[in-house]
Formats: sequence, C-alpha cells, structure tokens
Amino acid sequence: MSDAPDRKTRPALTRSPSWRALAAHRRTWNDRHLRDLFDAEPRRAEIFSLETCGLLADYSKNRITGDTMTLLLTLAQERGVPARIAALLEGKRVNATEKRAAWHTALRAGNRAPKDVQRNLSKMRAYALALRAGEIRGATGMPVRDVVSIGIGGSALGPVLVTAAIAPDADQPRVHFISTPGAPMTRLLKKLDPATTLIILQSKSFGTQETMLNAAVAKRWAEATLGENTNVHFAAVTANIAAAEKFGIDPERIFPMWDWVGGRYSLWSAVGLPAMIAMGPQAFDELLAGAAAMDAHFSSAAPAANLPLILALLDLWNINFFDAAANAVMTYAAGLDLLPAWLQQLEMESLGKNVTLRGKPLRHESGAVLWGGAGIEAQHACFQQLHQGTRAVPVDFITCCCNTPSDDGTQAILLANCFAQSAMLMRGVSAAETEQALLAGGASAREAARLAPHQALPGNRPSNTLLLQSLTPHSLGALLALYEHRTCALAALWDINAFDQYGVEHGKKLAGSLVPEFSSAATATAHDASTNRLVNYVKTKKP
Ligand code: F6P
Repeated sequence: MSDAPDRKTRPALTRSPSWRALAAHRRTWNDRHLRDLFDAEPRRAEIFSLETCGLLADYSKNRITGDTMTLLLTLAQERGVPARIAALLEGKRVNATEKRAAWHTALRAGNRAPKDVQRNLSKMRAYALALRAGEIRGATGMPVRDVVSIGIGGSALGPVLVTAAIAPDADQPRVHFISTPGAPMTRLLKKLDPATTLIILQSKSFGTQETMLNAAVAKRWAEATLGENTNVHFAAVTANIAAAEKFGIDPERIFPMWDWVGGRYSLWSAVGLPAMIAMGPQAFDELLAGAAAMDAHFSSAAPAANLPLILALLDLWNINFFDAAANAVMTYAAGLDLLPAWLQQLEMESLGKNVTLRGKPLRHESGAVLWGGAGIEAQHACFQQLHQGTRAVPVDFITCCCNTPSDDGTQAILLANCFAQSAMLMRGVSAAETEQALLAGGASAREAARLAPHQALPGNRPSNTLLLQSLTPHSLGALLALYEHRTCALAALWDINAFDQYGVEHGKKLAGSLVPEFSSAATATAHDASTNRLVNYVKTKKP
C-alpha cells in the first residue's frame, strides 16, 4: 500500500488522524438509535450486507452510518492493513516475536501449496481411507474400530468442531476426542478394546503436560492387554518428530506439523486427521476448498467489500469506541454448538495482548472476551442480560437457510428465533410502547405505569447475522476461515501479534512445579501464601 505511512514514522494508533475522526464521530452517536436509522433508510439492510463464499453477512444492525464505514476504512488504509493482509497470505514472517510466518492459508492452497504440505495431505488421505476401509489392523490382526484423538487447545478444538458439525455419527471407525486428563479418559477406555483401537497423539510441541499424561495412560492401557506389541496402535501429529519417535511412534505414522502454523490455526494441517477419518478425505478436501474460497475473497476483495476486514473494523468500533468488553457468538444450526469454543481460543489467544509488535504498551483496549453457545438454548439462559442488562454486548448470530441433509422443517423455528432476537436487540421496546401494550392488554393506568420500566427493552444493541445456505464442509470451511481472517485483520489494525501466546506459558510452568507438591509429605512453602495454603489444605483432605 503506497499511501500508508511507514510503520516507523506512523503516529500511535490512538493519535492517528482517522482515530481522532472516529472519536469525534462517536460523539454523534450519543442520541442516535438504530431503530430510527432503519426507519430513515429503507435500503439499510441491503447497503450494510455482503454476500461471499456462499454466505450472507448482514451487519446493518451495527451502530454505523455510511460515514462510520468511510472513517473505519480510512483507518484501515492509514494503518497499512491491506499490505499486512498481503504479507500474511504470502507467508511472510508476520509472527514477529517468534520470527515465523503464519501461513495456515498454505495448508488449503491445493496444488499451489508447498510440496511437503501436499505430500502430507496425500499421506493423511491414504491413512484415512485405509482406516475407513478396515484395512488398518491392530496387533492381533483385528481392524481398527475406534480412533481416540488425544490433544488439547488447537490440537483438539478444530477437529472436534468439524467432526461434530459434519460427521457426528461416524462409525467406520468411531472417532473419540480426549483433552482433559482423568475421568473422561478412564471412562472412554473402559468402553474400548485395545486390540481394535488406534490412539492418535495430537500435539505440536509433543510436550503439553495434559496430553503427555493422557498418552502415558493410553500406552499403559494398551500394554496391559497387548503386551509390548502396541506400536501399531499409535500414531502422532506433531512438529516435534524426535519426541514422537522417542515415545515409540513408528515414523511412518507420524504426520508432521510445521512451526509456521499456530495451534489455533492448525485445523487445516494434520491436526485435522481425526476429522478426516470421521468425515472422509473428500469431505475434508471440501472443507479446505471452502476456506480457500474465503482466502481468495480476503486477498482480492476491495476493502469496502472485504468481509473479514469489515467485521474486524466493526469489532474495533464496538470495542474501542463503545467499550464492548465481550462478544457473544450464538449459533442457530445443529452442529455449530462447539463453534464458540473454537472461536474462544482463536480470538482470545490471538487478540488477548497488551503490547504492540514493537513492544510498546497499547493505549486502547484489545481483544474482547468471547463467549456463546447454541442460541436457542441461550435464549433461556442469558439473553435476559443481553436485552435488559446495562451493557451492550455485540452478538454474532450464525444460522443456515436450511439444515442438512434434508430440511425437516425444524430449521424454520431456529431461523425465526435467530432473526427475532437480533431484531429485538436492535429495535428494543420503549417504555411508552410497553405502557401502551399493557393498557391495551387491560392493565390499569397505575399498573401499566408501574410495570413499563421493567418490561421495556433499550435496544440499540449491535449484532451481525451470518447466514449460510446450509452446513456443509465447504460452507464450514469458509465460515472458519472468515473468523481467522477477521481475527488477523483486527490484530493488524491494532498492530499486535496474533500468533504468539506467551501469556499461557507462565501458568503452565508453575503448574508443572505444583504437581509433585501434592504427593510430597513436606508442607508446601515455596509459593505465595494462598497457593501454599490451598496445596496444604488439599493434602489434609486426601483420602
Ligand atoms: O494454550 C497454549 C497452547 O500452546 C495452544 O496454543 C495450543 O493449541 C495448545 O497449547 C496445545 O499445544 P500442543 O499442540 O503443542 O500440545
């Protein structure tokens, strides 16, 4: 981008001309209501909607006007965001702290992908096909009937989501996911036969404490039945080949990851193997194709029609100019219930930062807390606060025109609720309207006046609606890539690193030093008073 001032000479974001212009524009919003904007512009929904990669994004229920979007797009231009997007997609070293690329888009680039990526995908496909055909046999000659994928965070959330969305009933073989040590693993292994079970250890580092603990449990479980001959029952997905070989994994069954793919961006890598086994290689290829279609859009669409960039700009507008501390994602489509969990890691590990790429403290808020769930259930749990709480929480509503494989008519109720919630958040119900409705319902003037303040909805609460045609591998791939790019575009706007996660390392390290304390006879004294007391209290309560 030639007209973007150089990063070194550019003023700090909050001192930039476009940020100041946005701050001035924000003050005009103090007495505006979305309801009035919709009344004033009948084409508002059409103006503030974008359709790409098989999905419709209606962002008209945000607190924006045409001027808002112009100012936001000027900010993107001024901060050189289009050039940052190009660098990301070209595999440049955008992960400044770890001095790496963040080239997850290369994993879905088809025949343009790096040769080793293509080779690895072919190896995954062959292995998945053989497993699904019952050609992979265990130590006793029996075919594999159950696959247990052991991993956590980015080594689990993606394949768990995609398997639940696309192949929830896969049974040739059945695919199970374990992240938490302890009871979930014990309960699952009790139901399985080691002779017909394949364990896939998914860990980019091959060092995550929870995963390695579960791996050891699985190995003991297999050896208890099969003796030493368990090798054929294990495979690994990792960037740490040496550690996997040291664990005893046959090199032929190690599927490599690369350090230029972050864990939360790794679904498209060999981390996706369990999902490919469940859904089949063809469906996994369609997932990749959907993501690749969104990559092409992100790469080529002009800023004003670039959906990931537009959504990122709206996130910045809500977070930095309306103090939104949380974003909610409500799904109204069977199979997408686990999407918020995947998004939580993607967005909160990427955007939960407090310094710029050059290590300078941020002068503005960064990533919001992301939460959410199945919208139809959330309406009976947390929507009360979304409608009448004192905070406006931006909501993404995600649904499908029809449910797959064949619309049984139930999707209409999900669609109706999804659209109704979004509409009520936007328009609200004024106290006067409420009072009128109470009077019309027969309430006395006194009763109507008493109840109206309790029943009114403020409205003016922003939301986006993302509408897929139906939930298929292709549409899911496009949706997930949309959020990846939205996250990266927002990080570029804030000039933060979306690809490291130093914040989680300290806690992990302390946890490692605490584990042995619980079995030690000595009183814990090496930590802060609270931690010492808690550890010692547990030790007094142990059976
Ligand atoms: O939470 C930190 C983290 O490193 C995530 O970024 C990652 O997805 C997860 O732990 C698991 O790491 P690994 O794949 O190395 O086991």
